[in-house]
Amino acid sequence: MTISFKDKVAIVTGAGGGLGKEYALELARRGAKVVVNDLGGSRDGTGSSDAAAKVVEEIEAAGGEAMANGGSVTEYEQMEKMVADAKQKWGGVHILINNAGVLRDKTFAKMDPADFEFVLKVHLTGSAFATKACWETFREQAYGRVLMTASSTGLFGNFGQANYGAAKLGLAGLTKTLQLEGAKYNIRVNSLSPVAGTRMTEDLFPEEAFKLFAPENVAPAALFLVSEDAPTNAIVGAGAGGFHSAWVVMNDAVWLPDGQRTVEGFAENWDKISEMSNLHAPQSGSEQSAAILKAMQQVLGADAAPSSTRG
Ligand code: NAI
Repeated sequence: MTISFKDKVAIVTGAGGGLGKEYALELARRGAKVVVNDLGGSRDGTGSSDAAAKVVEEIEAAGGEAMANGGSVTEYEQMEKMVADAKQKWGGVHILINNAGVLRDKTFAKMDPADFEFVLKVHLTGSAFATKACWETFREQAYGRVLMTASSTGLFGNFGQANYGAAKLGLAGLTKTLQLEGAKYNIRVNSLSPVAGTRMTEDLFPEEAFKLFAPENVAPAALFLVSEDAPTNAIVGAGAGGFHSAWVVMNDAVWLPDGQRTVEGFAENWDKISEMSNLHAPQSGSEQSAAILKAMQQVLGADAAPSSTRG
């Protein structure tokens, strides 16, 4: 089985280097026409360069098709123009990989509020802007594949990255609602949590590990998640050849009857409420209230639930 991207137009944001460049090269090798977006800034988001144009040269030299875009994901009009340019040249846009990112690491105690806001703006708002700029096209075509770049920091936390972690978990949340809204238009939305040796992590990895965690070891997951047969609502981790899934799960609700519904009653039941057993991964937010009503029914009997939630 060969997974082809022939006749597909793909946008990869932040594709001037690191992971995004690898995705762009591999998409082009497999036949996609690729918009290489990058404003070419430094790791903290300052400055600019022609990084995107260089990746386009590399794709063209290998016989592929690509166009450079120097827009910033933080500027909605620039994202709209990027999509319009791609549609004008190639007639559509089918795939968006939201990959652009910056770092402004500091402990929360020392973090400048402006650095909190900026990191959220690039990762979270930037991904929403680029996606929004494509969304109507995806709906009209009844075809769209979107990949958000989450992170282990967002899913699990990391010392010194409060801004980055908040943005990255926000992207998993954005994925969960967009996959619901996109479902009937054949728009599939997933999140990827990569681990890769790039300039973003060069001071964290020892040299050997840096090579082991090469970006090309993440690209297979990224490309599958934007392919024709991609799943939707997946959270996938990838690095150094290892791949896994992650979920947002909940346990069975504990329903406390009137007399026990006090702070003390909650405290007495805390062990059970916080028990990591019978975990399930709701597919939409309404499953939380359904699970609570189910727990209530188990105590009071089936007739206790509002009729709209029965069955
Ligand atoms: P990178 O720094 O090489 O790539 C990020 C790219 O985004 C840069 O080329 C940069 O110029 C571009 N960019 C920054 N602001 C932009 C903006 N406003 N508009 C357009 N482009 C912009 O770093 P890397 O590692 O390749 O990161 C790619 C993505 O993967 C990021 O979202 C990062 O947070 C995420 N990630 C990376 C991990 C790793 O281990 N390298 C771990 C978890 C997540």
